[in-house]
Amino acid sequence: MQDIENQKYSGMAMALHWLMALMIIVNIAIVKYMHTLPRDARGAYYYQHEAIGTTVLVLILWRLYWRLTHRPPALPASTTGVAALAAHAGHWTLYGMMVLVPMTGFLQVSLAGRPIGMWLFSITSPFTPDAALAKSFNGFHDILGNLLMFLVAGHILFALMHHFYKRDGLLSRMVP
Ligand code: HEM
Repeated sequence: MQDIENQKYSGMAMALHWLMALMIIVNIAIVKYMHTLPRDARGAYYYQHEAIGTTVLVLILWRLYWRLTHRPPALPASTTGVAALAAHAGHWTLYGMMVLVPMTGFLQVSLAGRPIGMWLFSITSPFTPDAALAKSFNGFHDILGNLLMFLVAGHILFALMHHFYKRDGLLSRMVP
């Protein structure tokens, strides 16, 4: 514990991590709940899902820039080579999915020719509508979105395992 408890992520990295974690979890909950409702009652949920998701797309670009220009704290000294490799692979898969999931969502809606409401303004589709392509992106988005849901669950489980079982202070690096 002592070897890492003073090595924390930067305030910006923490803020982006927790804000985006909240937005992604809420967005998955919205879309799953929405599917339990009759079609004509889903409008407001589509709106919020698309607005939150597009905000995540903007934030992940900023977060990637921040990650590439700021070195994160080193892993605990007890981490073996294989575990370190797995942790890096897991984190970069999450970063990749945080780009691909909102991007495919944005593309499916824009290619369908629908504007995306962003609370204070609306994003007009920059594309010529293409129903077939929109349907393909809808398929990618559903698969990748559900995959991200399992990845996020795994990420949370690993963090809790480190905190309660290994007790190596890993989680405390991500809290102020
Ligand atoms: C944080 C980012 C996002 C996450 C985690 C996410 C997650 C998901 C998931 C898991 C589904 C599939 C639900 C299911 O059928 O099982 C879905 C569907 C959908 N998403 Fe997203 N999404 C995100 C961003 C976006 C964005 C940016 C847009 C569009 C601007 C969007 C538009 C949609 C639409 C239209 C559906 C289909 C809903 C339906 O008609 O069944 N998503 N999303």
